[in-house]
Amino acid sequence: MTYKVKLLLSGITFETQQQQTILDAALAQNIAFPNRCQVGACGMCLCRLKTGTIEYQLQPMLTEKEQAQGWVFACQAYATTDLVLTFEE
Ligand code: FES
Repeated sequence: MTYKVKLLLSGITFETQQQQTILDAALAQNIAFPNRCQVGACGMCLCRLKTGTIEYQLQPMLTEKEQAQGWVFACQAYATTDLVLTFEE
């Protein structure tokens, strides 16, 4: 299963495969997606989910409020639908 991920503002769109994190999918397609640790610790890859749904194998450290605001760790998240993401607060 393949899902489309759209990044707001830049308008960049890329595809993510099943079993591929959002960050891995972006980097595999040479998209400059912010990242550092790639293990859910540094927060560099944080972005906000505008539409769509994701899942984690390991739940990252996000407060309920942050989750409600749509914050996502792209290095840990797997798309379960097409997504629209933004780096805006
Ligand atoms: S790259 Fe460090 S938390 Fe995702």
